[in-house]
Amino acid sequence: MSQMKQFDNIPSTPGKFKMEKSSPYIHRLRWHSSLVKLTFWSFVFLGMILMFLYKSPPSTSSSSSTPDPSRRSLWTPSWGGPAWEKRVRSSARVRSRNGLCVLVTGAAGFVGTHVSAALKRRGDGVLGIDNFNDYYDVSLKRARQALLERTGVFIVEGDINDQALISKLFEVVAFTHVMHLAAQAGVRYAMQNPSSYVHSNIAGFVSLLEVCKSANPQPAIVWASSSSVYGLNTKVPFSEKDRTDQPASLYAATKKAGEEIAHTYNHIYGLSLTGLRFFTVYGPWGRPDMAYFFFTRDMLKGKPIPIFEGPNHGTVARDFTYIDDIVKGCLGALDTAEKSTGSGGKKKGPAQLRVFNLGNTSPVPVSELVSILERLLKVKAKRTVLKMPRNGDVQFTHANISYAQSEFGYKPTTDLQTGLKKFVRWYLSYYSGGKKSAQ
Ligand SMILES: NC(=O)c1ccc[n+]([C@@H]2O[C@H](COP(=O)([O-])OP(=O)(O)OC[C@H]3O[C@@H](n4cnc5c(N)ncnc54)[C@H](O)[C@@H]3O)[C@@H](O)[C@H]2O)c1
Ligand SMILES: *[C@@H]1O[C@H](CO)[C@@H](O)[C@H](O)[C@H]1NC(C)=O
Repeated sequence: MSQMKQFDNIPSTPGKFKMEKSSPYIHRLRWHSSLVKLTFWSFVFLGMILMFLYKSPPSTSSSSSTPDPSRRSLWTPSWGGPAWEKRVRSSARVRSRNGLCVLVTGAAGFVGTHVSAALKRRGDGVLGIDNFNDYYDVSLKRARQALLERTGVFIVEGDINDQALISKLFEVVAFTHVMHLAAQAGVRYAMQNPSSYVHSNIAGFVSLLEVCKSANPQPAIVWASSSSVYGLNTKVPFSEKDRTDQPASLYAATKKAGEEIAHTYNHIYGLSLTGLRFFTVYGPWGRPDMAYFFFTRDMLKGKPIPIFEGPNHGTVARDFTYIDDIVKGCLGALDTAEKSTGSGGKKKGPAQLRVFNLGNTSPVPVSELVSILERLLKVKAKRTVLKMPRNGDVQFTHANISYAQSEFGYKPTTDLQTGLKKFVRWYLSYYSGGKKSAQ
């Protein structure tokens, strides 16, 4: 009651305060107004904290707090609204005659960025989606996103497990094709964080297929499997007809599961599905978790690099495939993909189901990879030779690519020396001047 009185007594002209500084009444009033101010600013401050918590991406520290980095991004910023839909439509607008309209998942990833840019360049409509998880340096994903943005490709930030979001995208745009490259990659990380493989490579794939099967019209889907499905197979070169039921890592097992899941959705719903088994892809804007990338980083820092050898000093070799050749293979698969046959979740007839090796057909020993890097970087590597641990890596890979060759003229043209030269040129310019550091 008395407080209200005080308020009633506040002079309407604030200027008067200054002349009556000494009175006890003013003193009380001052104290009171500062309490009001304090309350006011507390609310503003609290509001700012809440806004910050809401807007900021969830924790960026690696796997310590949450065991699953790909799940973290479920807490994504909001999507939707007229401005957002306009960006989605404009990015997906087809600009060439008979161009495709493609949803690219994992568009901020290594392969996704290159494929998106290539599609856009030839006039196809492209919309990306990526959850920007922190499996490796997120700033590299952001830099790729900026690169794509300049070419007119918008990447929606979200998880492929978010069916409401994916359905919304299909409501806004009638995609003719899906290029599915979002995945938890890496063989060794699977022992550290197995659930992220199940989340992205199995649950995420099923979630995406659920939306695709119900879409009207259903899109044709091309997706990334992996040479790792050959597992303990020792018959070379690896052919698509070889057995793939002996995966050597959880990563390989989830890729193999993807191939079986693809079979199911093709069989039940008439979805057109093409799996591409990539063989060790490398090149500019590549993945920091891969050997050629961290060898380059560590050799430049003068740090020793681990070189694995098989039993009895056996050579470890990889069929390294340059990114531009992989991109050509992806476009070839998209261009020869037949339409899905179902509609509204019902199968109307048999649909296409394929799987192709996309490799380079010439395996190179890892020691040779290091020698090439030494010449290109002009530094001597400190090699530490180690026994290959039994954690999922296989001793060698070698692709038989005659099927992809016959179906869409796939023919890799870049040898490791030429491709690494382009990678090193990119690496040095990207990380030049200490502006960014390769973690
Ligand atoms: N690079 C290779 O050597 C190689 C070899 C064999 C197979 N592959 C396969 O090719 C595909 C592309 O590989 P890459 O090298 O570009 O890997 P990458 O990690 O650079 O790209 C994958 C992208 O998908 C995103 N992503 C992961 N989970 C997601 C989710 N749940 N929702 C939304 N986005 C998600 C990631 O943020 C990342 O940007 C993957 O399926 C990978 O398994 C790659
Ligand atoms: C390569 O694969 C094709 C089938 O796709 C097969 O006919 C051919 O024999 C294979 N080549 C070798 C060298 O294994």
